[in-house]
Amino acid sequence: MADELKRGLEGVLVAESDLSYVDGEVGKLVYRGYDIEDLARGASYEEVLYLLWHGSLPTAAELDAFTADLVAERDVDDDVIETVRALADAGERPMAALRTATSMLSAYDPDDGDSEETTLTQGRRITAKIPTVLAAFERVRQGNEPVAPDPDLSHAGNFLYMLTGTEPDPVSEETFDMALTLHADHGLNASTFTAMVIGSTMADVYSGVTGGIGALSGPLHGGANQDVMEVLHEIDASSKDPVQWVKDTRDDGGRIPGFGHRVYKVKDPRAKILEEKLRDLSESSGDTKWLDYTTAIEEHLTDQGLVEKGIAPNVDFYSGSVYDSLGIPVDMYTPIFAMSRAGGWIAHVAEYQEDNRLIRPRARYTGPENAEFVPIDER
Ligand code: ACO
Repeated sequence: MADELKRGLEGVLVAESDLSYVDGEVGKLVYRGYDIEDLARGASYEEVLYLLWHGSLPTAAELDAFTADLVAERDVDDDVIETVRALADAGERPMAALRTATSMLSAYDPDDGDSEETTLTQGRRITAKIPTVLAAFERVRQGNEPVAPDPDLSHAGNFLYMLTGTEPDPVSEETFDMALTLHADHGLNASTFTAMVIGSTMADVYSGVTGGIGALSGPLHGGANQDVMEVLHEIDASSKDPVQWVKDTRDDGGRIPGFGHRVYKVKDPRAKILEEKLRDLSESSGDTKWLDYTTAIEEHLTDQGLVEKGIAPNVDFYSGSVYDSLGIPVDMYTPIFAMSRAGGWIAHVAEYQEDNRLIRPRARYTGPENAEFVPIDER
């Protein structure tokens, strides 16, 4: 039993956590006991961060102080902005630019240390600065100057403001805030586990978040939301019927992005909430194209029995269309996921380090034995 191999660590328990629980059989997600739907509809992303980092929902006074601390950390050093500019000029991809810039932020952090308190203090700085870095990257690559953070706006509202230079309307701000809450934490997914592994060496939290960004960038994880939107654009440009696109892709042995999940065997509860948001946005704008396409694809895959087999819509299936409706460029979707999930990575690193044990699994060795060494000049 001790030597049982679990590919992809599927189902392996490696830690205890109070942070989030995913019931993949019924499609339930909770953060510290609170249902994701209640949090998404009733709490701001700042409240959710407080909940994840400090263990309970804040009172109004606690939230005010917490928000003020976050707001005070939004500015980033000019050197980081210059690096972001250089990365944009070099045509760097947004997730890679974010990875580089996040790592660089540590050079300007006044604290050094490995206590849980330092993890949360530095984590707060990272969380506050990521939106500034991302918005600056997007603006400079479009040939615009970065917009300074507005201390009067929420985390979600300020990001949209720095991205566009215009204060967002209440519906856009609320929708984006909801998307941030929905993506904040999700058990030991690949990027969170990456951050934890790094944290378990007692490396600083900048290393953990930087590693998390790397893990999240892959198409099997955070990259899928971009893939979904690219597919929708491709279908639109080719004037192909969305269902025909799905049939052709499956005939070629391809996967449908935004479907399937290692844990959920039913529709992801986050997808349900985002679908509803997409419906609201589409109905208020009168443009129902993405809603029509996604609905047609989901209905087709349901009819084909895929959803019943557990390959159901995940959070990425709807988040892309929601971001598109907010005017956000496609390749910023995964960085936005990172912007939200950084809160979860930091919470997991801090929690794990409270009772730390270095994470160090083993591989079953399948290489040759007793190979005879031959010096280089005799090979
Ligand atoms: N489309 C078509 N078939 C699929 C899909 C899909 N999106 N996902 C899984 N399947 C099929 C596989 O082909 C496989 O079939 P088989 O047993 O006949 O070979 C079966 O379902 C099981 O697939 P696995 O890859 O073993 O399942 P796993 O748990 O490893 O995969 C994953 C989960 C990677 C998310 C997968 O469903 C996938 O590739 N989905 C598309 C990418 C995506 O949407 N990723 C986002 C995940 S959510 C997130 O990270 C926020």
